[in-house]
Amino acid sequence: MYQVYPRSFADGNGDGDGDLPGLRAHLPYLADLGVDGLWISPWFPSPLADGGYDVSDFCDIHPMFGTLADADAVLSEAHALGLRVIIDLVPNHTSDQHPWFLAALAAGPGSPERQRYFFRDGRGRDGAEPPNNWISAFGGSAWSRVTEPDGRPGQWYLHLFAPEQPDLDWSHPPVLDAFDDVLRFWFDRGVDGLRIDAAPAMAKKLGLPDADYGGVPEFRTVDWDDNPHWDVEEVHDIFRRWRAIADTYDGDRAFVAEAVVSTPERLAKYLRPDEMHTAFNFPYLKSPWDARALREVIDATLASFEPIGVPSTWVLTSHDEIRPVTRYGRATTSSFFITDGEGEESDLALGTRRARAAALLMLALPGGAYIYQGEELGLPNVDDLPDDVLQDPMFHRSGGALRGRDGCRVPIPWSGTSPPFGFSPPGVHPWLPQPESWAPLTVEAESSDPESTLSLYRAALRLRRSVDGLAGAPLGWRESPEGVLDFERANALRCVVNLGAPPVDLGGSDVLLSSLPLVDGRLPVDGAAWIRPTGPDPATAG
Ligand code: NOJ
Repeated sequence: MYQVYPRSFADGNGDGDGDLPGLRAHLPYLADLGVDGLWISPWFPSPLADGGYDVSDFCDIHPMFGTLADADAVLSEAHALGLRVIIDLVPNHTSDQHPWFLAALAAGPGSPERQRYFFRDGRGRDGAEPPNNWISAFGGSAWSRVTEPDGRPGQWYLHLFAPEQPDLDWSHPPVLDAFDDVLRFWFDRGVDGLRIDAAPAMAKKLGLPDADYGGVPEFRTVDWDDNPHWDVEEVHDIFRRWRAIADTYDGDRAFVAEAVVSTPERLAKYLRPDEMHTAFNFPYLKSPWDARALREVIDATLASFEPIGVPSTWVLTSHDEIRPVTRYGRATTSSFFITDGEGEESDLALGTRRARAAALLMLALPGGAYIYQGEELGLPNVDDLPDDVLQDPMFHRSGGALRGRDGCRVPIPWSGTSPPFGFSPPGVHPWLPQPESWAPLTVEAESSDPESTLSLYRAALRLRRSVDGLAGAPLGWRESPEGVLDFERANALRCVVNLGAPPVDLGGSDVLLSSLPLVDGRLPVDGAAWIRPTGPDPATAG
């Protein structure tokens, strides 16, 4: 699956922002790249306080991106090219400009309009303290105080993300009913699936008790079980209800969970047969460039998904993460919501070698893989964007301590030798400036270079489809030296990745593809190779 961040993919109307006509025009590029489908980040009307994850109408298209007719055209043309389309649903919160929230503000305390959200009186004298101690994922309190219609300081509302993203109360039946219609609206238009943003946030512990942050107020979703505002048991009722709706449709309509939770067992709950179909693999995304750590997370993933019959997924990056080329060139090679390795220098040549190897590793694993736009070009993060163009609430809410996620959202370079690189017409400034140094990284430049990262992705995606017996083949590890990953997918494909060992002798094997040139038949450090297996499959040979 290929993730499209629509504002940064391609600008069809020449105003500096990506849009759906731009996406339509480039669908053949995606078909040719060899992906099976797209996941489109939010395309709904939005004030863009959080890059579109603040939705003001769940059943329309942002005018910046086009119209519902453009969305229909994207769907039908993608389908005609054999591409599935998943869109991004953001149900935990709305925009503060959504008519429901505006109505709640106007209607005042105790009104049915306020029941769609979490409005509460404050604590302390005059209710001047937030109702509880919960914090926002973007830093600071998760509560903001409103001014009541009569002008007095009033109630507080909950926002686990930015203040412009008030949380909906999913225990309130009208919210559930309204979203049933949203699901049907998009399924009726032909979308093949929905990625569910911040899925574990959607239920809160009854009574909204204080959270025990253990002294350090951090929004820890990965290593914390008894969290009153994340992964609360009742959340699963919502997905059961949604699955029943999806199952009434023809074809394979799929839900993809964005669920960062504490254990594989807890993630597996989201993937029960009557809940969602698949989930992003955040432990894999987070893993450092280290053979042992990667092997552990691969094994843990397979061990938790295989028994429940759910395909594993693999992902290196997204619109929330540091781009792999930059990440793997830093001392800290793990990644999590842009913060790991923040501010560290990166050796981009090293990062590029590793990112290419990481691509071959990911694409050799059994299951689905997600590629974030520009990953296939080997784009680095743009870490030197001027402060005045930064839009991410992480930057502003951290008082500038975090640069935020704009650096991985810079518009795609398509062609030419200087900005805007065919993203927009010449002379137009894209919404985030592209670096001059991207000239060799355009789709045009890389298409004519057989050694480019784009050529590597194209070749790998073609092989993934064409190698006999690869789809569904299990993974079996082969013996390998420390620092090397070596596995076979039944008798279909062998993948060797050298993450830090002396050059690995491939013994004259039939190399189908490699991320670096072999030297005397050896795979250099930070290289990966796909090999046609000979000999017995270790998975079945035991
Ligand atoms: C996860 C999305 O990927 C991210 O971009 C967004 O900021 C949060 N959810 C809140 O919607």
